[in-house]
Amino acid sequence: MRFDATGKVSLDHIYTAPDPRTYFEVLRPLGYCVPQQAKPYFEKIVKEYRESEQVEAPRILDIGCSYGINAALLKYDATMDELYARYGDAAGMSREELLARDRELSRSRRPAHGLRFTGLDASTGALAYAREAGFLDDTVHADLEADDPTPEQHALLTGTDLVISTGCIGYVTERTLTRVVHAQGERRPWMAHFVLRMFSFDPVEEALDGLGYRTVRVDDVFKQRRFADPQEQALVLDRMAAAGVDARGLEEEGWMYAQLYVSRPHQDPAR
Ligand SMILES: C[S@@+](CC[C@H](N)C(=O)[O-])C[C@H]1O[C@@H](n2cnc3c(N)ncnc32)[C@H](O)[C@@H]1O
Repeated sequence: MRFDATGKVSLDHIYTAPDPRTYFEVLRPLGYCVPQQAKPYFEKIVKEYRESEQVEAPRILDIGCSYGINAALLKYDATMDELYARYGDAAGMSREELLARDRELSRSRRPAHGLRFTGLDASTGALAYAREAGFLDDTVHADLEADDPTPEQHALLTGTDLVISTGCIGYVTERTLTRVVHAQGERRPWMAHFVLRMFSFDPVEEALDGLGYRTVRVDDVFKQRRFADPQEQALVLDRMAAAGVDARGLEEEGWMYAQLYVSRPHQDPAR
């Protein structure tokens, strides 16, 4: 197995395939479940946002959206179990056949609360699939770690109500989030990020603080996935120990855990 600079096993190839089958095939044995864990929290924040900001159909930006998994779960009330089963029995299908089946899912279920999803990702293949399947309404193919958004990307980012992510902070940092916020002018979208405990959220929190946000960490931990093998676990535990994060009872037992950070603008009375 190959490991990336963070000590995690490198799964890059599963995010760049032309359809989501490799993603679900590789992640199933690892029990990847953080989008499912995140779903009720995202639903709660959407509800709070709609009530507080009087926005009937919020526009959500999913950063590192990959194949639009969070959108499928939130818009169409899909579950991770359903998606694992759906793509697990599709070995003999062409990409077009798979897409046709997914379009049928998108057509047959009304988007909850009329939610609209824009996905931001560095993977063209994942974005194209999610858009064609009807999971995402708009896509931004960009690496905002490296570059400012183009005028077209800027226009797609503007008007975002909520920014969410799962499994992405760590690869994506405050550089991307700052650029996303700057694309909003004076508006400040709410944010909710599920972040592995091995990654510090402090730099993001500081940057958001400077942009007028207050961040709260939800007092719970969320299973993300199993370690791929003992070597990955050892590398991640080393990294966590060096950062002073106590892994007893959690990562030491074989699962990687995430935490949820919710950031809202200071002047928000519902905070
Ligand atoms: C671990 S995956 C998480 C995917 C999805 N959110 C989920 O929970 O299943 C990380 C995603 O971030 C994307 N990514 C990595 N670096 C990025 C960057 N600099 N800008 C945008 N997306 C990036 C990858 O292409 C990948 O789709």
